[in-house]
Formats: sequence, structure tokens, C-alpha cells
Amino acid sequence: MNSSVNTTNGKIKPSERIFVALDTPDIKHALNLAQSLKGLVGGLKLGKEFFTSLGPEGAKQITALGMPIFLDLKYHDIPNTVAGAVRSALGLKPFILNVHASGGRAMMEAAAHAADEAGPNRPLVIAVTVLTSMNRNDLAEVGIDVEPIEHVMRLARLAKDSGLDGVVCSAKEVVALRGNVGPDFKLVVPGIRPEWASKDDQKRVVTPRDAIDLGADYLVIGRPITAANDPAEAARRIVAELSDGQ
Ligand code: C5P
Repeated sequence: MNSSVNTTNGKIKPSERIFVALDTPDIKHALNLAQSLKGLVGGLKLGKEFFTSLGPEGAKQITALGMPIFLDLKYHDIPNTVAGAVRSALGLKPFILNVHASGGRAMMEAAAHAADEAGPNRPLVIAVTVLTSMNRNDLAEVGIDVEPIEHVMRLARLAKDSGLDGVVCSAKEVVALRGNVGPDFKLVVPGIRPEWASKDDQKRVVTPRDAIDLGADYLVIGRPITAANDPAEAARRIVAELSDGQ
């Protein structure tokens, strides 16, 4: 695993649990945000909006700042292609990268084996289970006629059995997942809103503190930090809330 995230007595520090989503196609904006957050949060998430406009060169400009990166490109293809994509991603030395669990066991095993080639810089390889934008009807329309939580559990187990390190999940799935996949499987949770932040388009939100208390390992936080008047101050405030009483 990439060694750039420190631990204290094996425990992750509150600030290191936060990955800030740089959802922008503007490299100057992304670099300014990244620079202002360096040392305050655990890392940065680069997703499809960033990567499709700015590509690996843009990602390298961000990684050059020395912060851990969650490369959120959600690979979903045949095993050989996903393995190749993971190998290509290793050049960016991500701390976390992800795939869709619905790509199946062989695809996830291929992703995990490809990640092993990074040796000590091996990223955490995590899976997206059911997109939180999909409800029961949406799942039924694609032929999966079960409650979303049932499918989330099935895919999380499959991800674990396939050698993956964790899943992206909603806060409301954390407790059930923890019981199902054990203490070491990483649960990475978006949809986070401090009490003082706007909900934006997120419908079911939890506070950073509640998500950690429920058992999340990492939090993905975008606009409460990136759209704040003072992103560094917003990040400090969230870290203080996470650290309170710890
Ligand atoms: O700005 P905000 O905090 O809502 O950003 C959340 C980030 O997490 C975005 O990059 C979004 O795409 C991502 N995400 C999410 N919900 C999911 C999966 C990913 O909000 N279920």
C-alpha cells in the first residue's frame, strides 16, 4: 500500500480520513484547492470530470504536490482491459483506485493482481457496489429484482472474496456492511455534509462525525470544502469536529 498516509499506532488520524473531491475541469482551480488543502486533509479524489478533461497530465500536476490520490474512474470492462487500465493507473501512484463490482469476480481478481505489481506502492483497490443514485425500480429494470441493500451486500462480499480492499458505500450501508465484511475491509463514504453546509443535490446526507462513528474508514467530501469561501478553514473545521473527544 502507498506509504504516504501516516498512521498513529496503526490508527488513521482524523484529518487523513478525508479525501476532497476535486470535481472541476479547470486545472488552475484544482491546483489552488489542492495547495490550500495540503497538510489539512488525507488526500484528493480525482474523478471522471477532472480526468476526462485534464487526463493523466493533469493528474500528475496534482500528484506532484505530494498528497495521496483516490483515482475514482470506476473501471468496468473485460478482465484483461481492466487489468491494463489498473497498470496504466499505477504510473500515477494512486493511494486508492476503484472498479465496479458488477464487473464480476474475474474482473476484480484481475484488477487486484494488476495492482500487486506496484509492490510497496500498491493502491487500495475498492469497488462500487450499487450506485446510490439507483433505487429498487432502477435495479429491477436492469434485471436485479431485490432490495438495493441485498445487492450491495452480495457485491461487497464478492469484492472481498476477489481480493479487493473495500467498497464505496453510503453511510446508511456502513453498519450492515461492517457486520458482513469484517473490520479490515475499507468503507469509503461520500454524501457527507457538516451541519453548517448546504446539502446541494445530495439527498441522504450524514455529518462527518456520524459517518466515522458508524464505522466509515474514509470520507469523500466535495462542495462543503471546495465551494466554501475559505476551503482550508472548512477543512480545519471538519477535522476539529472529527477530533473532538478523540
Ligand atoms: O460535493 P459532494 O460532497 O457532494 O461530492 C461528493 C463526491 O462523491 C462527488 O465526486 C461524487 O461524484 C461522489 N459520489 C457521491 N455519491 C456516490 C458516489 C460518489 O457523491 N454514491
